[in-house]
Amino acid sequence: MKFFIDTANLAQIREANELGVLDGVTTNPSLMARENIRGEEACRRHYVEICNIVDGDVSAEVIATDFDGMVREGEELAALHPNIVVKLPCTAEGIRAVKYFARKGIRTNCTLVFSVGQALLAAKAGATYVSPFVGRLDDICEDGVELVAHIVRMYRYYGFETQVLAASIRHTQHIVQCMDAGADVATCPLAAIKGLLKHPLTDSGLAQFLADHAKANA
Ligand code: G3P
Repeated sequence: MKFFIDTANLAQIREANELGVLDGVTTNPSLMARENIRGEEACRRHYVEICNIVDGDVSAEVIATDFDGMVREGEELAALHPNIVVKLPCTAEGIRAVKYFARKGIRTNCTLVFSVGQALLAAKAGATYVSPFVGRLDDICEDGVELVAHIVRMYRYYGFETQVLAASIRHTQHIVQCMDAGADVATCPLAAIKGLLKHPLTDSGLAQFLADHAKANA
């Protein structure tokens, strides 16, 4: 399973990258706004900065909601760096744009996916990634991880090549559950990735090793 970090914060992207296990980055307009990045030019510079830190796919989302606008913006984003993946919402216009970019060999991430039917359309249009939002389904008392598992089963059954990118991951256990569900990628907050490392027996075991070493070498 690949790990992406779900943030536009450069310090967090650098920290995750230094762990040596980072395969890419996802951003969205809310995450860009959280970093106070305003205006088209500033956004583009920021995407390039991210691409210069991480050697992996970087999802950059269009703001336009109409097909022509999505195509114009997506082509500009894709031209910024070979690692840019154009992120498009799972709407009728977005699906048309996914198909357009697939024909041109430009990679896409179809986002805001909340049902297996939406995931089917994204795959048929030729999306590189589909992003089911796990946490936001859990928020409304639906089962986000089960949606990931359902999409994985459906894609395997029909042999779709679209990769399932579990998004809206809120905590470490979500990562493990999405791994069990067969997700190709999990895009996670830094804290959730670091949570995978935590185990009290690792901490106490290391403390014991160091104490024994110190005693033997006193
Ligand atoms: O990857 C999508 C993500 O950024 C949304 O997460 O926590 O706002 O539902 P959240």
